[in-house]
Amino acid sequence: MCGEADPIRAWSRDKLSLLERYLGAYSRIMSKQKQSWLRSYSYIDAFAGAGRYLDEDTREYVDGSPFVALRCIPPFDEYRFIERSSSRLGELRARVEKEFPGREMRFYHGDANDILRQISREITYGSWRRAFVFLDPYGLELEYSTVCSLAEAHTFDVFVNFSVMGINRILQREKLPSSKTVELLQRVMGDSEWLDELYAVQPALIESHDRSFRGRLRAERVASQYAERVRRVFPHVSHPVLMRNSRDAPLYVLFLASHNGTAAKITNDIFSAFEQVRTGRRTPL
Ligand SMILES: C[S@@+](CC[C@H](N)C(=O)[O-])C[C@H]1O[C@@H](n2cnc3c(N)ncnc32)[C@H](O)[C@@H]1O
Repeated sequence: MCGEADPIRAWSRDKLSLLERYLGAYSRIMSKQKQSWLRSYSYIDAFAGAGRYLDEDTREYVDGSPFVALRCIPPFDEYRFIERSSSRLGELRARVEKEFPGREMRFYHGDANDILRQISREITYGSWRRAFVFLDPYGLELEYSTVCSLAEAHTFDVFVNFSVMGINRILQREKLPSSKTVELLQRVMGDSEWLDELYAVQPALIESHDRSFRGRLRAERVASQYAERVRRVFPHVSHPVLMRNSRDAPLYVLFLASHNGTAAKITNDIFSAFEQVRTGRRTPL
């Protein structure tokens, strides 16, 4: 019934290890809160995938984020999985229902932005419920307005994968971006002011008119531009961790956004430990 697993590489395994570490800490803290004011807490995987990958280097199967969350101890009260691909959602559902019968799970087929906006109206501050949201798109599918909706609810911790590679790919070096590209970037980043910094009008040497050239896109700078916009709506944002591929090209940054300072501090500690291992290694976390 299940199709071929999608491939996974070392940097995605690192991402899942970081997620696992944070989820363990989050769930321990929230389960204690249930002894006082908290009614329940949920795990929401907004770009859930099919739940299983094939590691192309080791040829092993690797569990994706839904399984990382389902294996977390103490368990969450409920799990929600959102996925735009019906075949991936079907595979995921079959796998998790088989392996975790009796868990409270909901499956949503559709666009994560639309569905998260609905959920953010449901898990309200006064409901005494809270949730952790994993935002792990492949590229530029996450809209800034979705992050704003989650922030406005004051009930969500969000762990974001922001695709620096996605931004780099759609911006040409010797041409200003088309209005369609600018619209997409506005949807993802919230505005396009940061583009002015990237493109400087430089006098062309041969032609009689000026042309715009994009300066080198510094991954750290784009990541901090995005984190700065997230900080406008979430008061506590962790340091970002930049993931690169085997040729050292920047892929994406991960960071946590929360209304709780302790959450950002825990994430910074987890990320610092990861950076220390990464700089001295290559042994896994
Ligand atoms: C990077 S993968 C997710 C990996 C998963 N978090 C894991 O670690 O196992 C991104 C997934 O998002 C799905 N996707 C892409 N755009 C989407 C959208 N707008 N809404 C919901 N899912 C989407 C893709 O089909 C893909 O399965």
